[in-house]
Amino acid sequence: MFKVRPAVSEDFDGIFNLYKIVACTVGGISRLEEEISETYIREFMSQAQTNGIQLVVCLKEDLNQILAEIHCYKPVQSVFAHVLTDLTIVVAPEVQGKGLGKLLFRSLQHEIRTKRKDILRVELIVRETNFRAISFYRSIDFRIEGRFERRIDSRNGRFESDIPMAWFNSEFENPYLKRKEE
Ligand SMILES: CC(C)(COP(=O)(O)OP(=O)(O)OC[C@H]1O[C@@H](n2cnc3c(N)ncnc32)[C@H](O)[C@@H]1OP(=O)(O)O)[C@@H](O)C(=O)NCCC(=O)NCCS
Repeated sequence: MFKVRPAVSEDFDGIFNLYKIVACTVGGISRLEEEISETYIREFMSQAQTNGIQLVVCLKEDLNQILAEIHCYKPVQSVFAHVLTDLTIVVAPEVQGKGLGKLLFRSLQHEIRTKRKDILRVELIVRETNFRAISFYRSIDFRIEGRFERRIDSRNGRFESDIPMAWFNSEFENPYLKRKEE
C-alpha cells in the first residue's frame, strides 16, 4: 500500500502542502503555518538532496501523493562532515499512528548503515511535551543528550524545553583509521 522513495524536485508541491497541514497542528514541528514558506521548503530540499538524505512515503498506486517526509543534511562546516543535522519528519494527520513514521526512520537508518559510512551521528531536537515522539525516538535507538531549557514559546504563556537527541551509525568508517591502514 505504501512506498518509501527518495524525494525528487517534482515533489516540491506535495511536500509544501504536507508541511502546511502539519504546521497547523499544535505541538509538533517548531514552525507556525505562516512560517512554512516556499523558500523554507526549497532550501531544505536543496540541502538534503545535495548534502544529505530526503525520503518520502507515497501510495503505491499514486507515487505523486506525498503522505510523509523525512530529511536531514550535513552542516556546511567541514568539522561536522560526519553529522546529519536538523532532522525533521512529518506525517499527514490522517495517516499518523499507522506506522509511516517508523517506516521512514527505519529506511533512513538502513540507508545510512548501508550507503553512508561517512556518517557517524544523526541529530534531532524535539519539544519536551511531544512525549510520544520522544518515546518513539528512544525505541529506535536515539539517545537523549541534554535539555535546552525554556527554548520554545508554546504560545500559551509558557516556555517549554527542547530535547536534543542523537543516533550513531554502527557502520561508520572513520577516515583517520582508514588513512593509517593505507
Ligand atoms: C511524530 C510522528 C512523526 C510519528 O509518526 P507516525 O507515523 O504518526 O508514527 P508511527 O505510526 O510510525 O508510530 C511510531 C511511534 O510514534 C508514536 N506516535 C504515533 N502517533 C503519534 C503522534 N500523533 N504524535 C507523536 N507520536 C506519535 C507512537 O507512540 C508510536 O510508537 P509505538 O509504535 O511504540 O506505539 C508523526 O505523528 C507526526 O508527523 N507528528 C506531527 C509532527 C511532529 O511531531 N514531528 C516530529 C517533530 S520532532
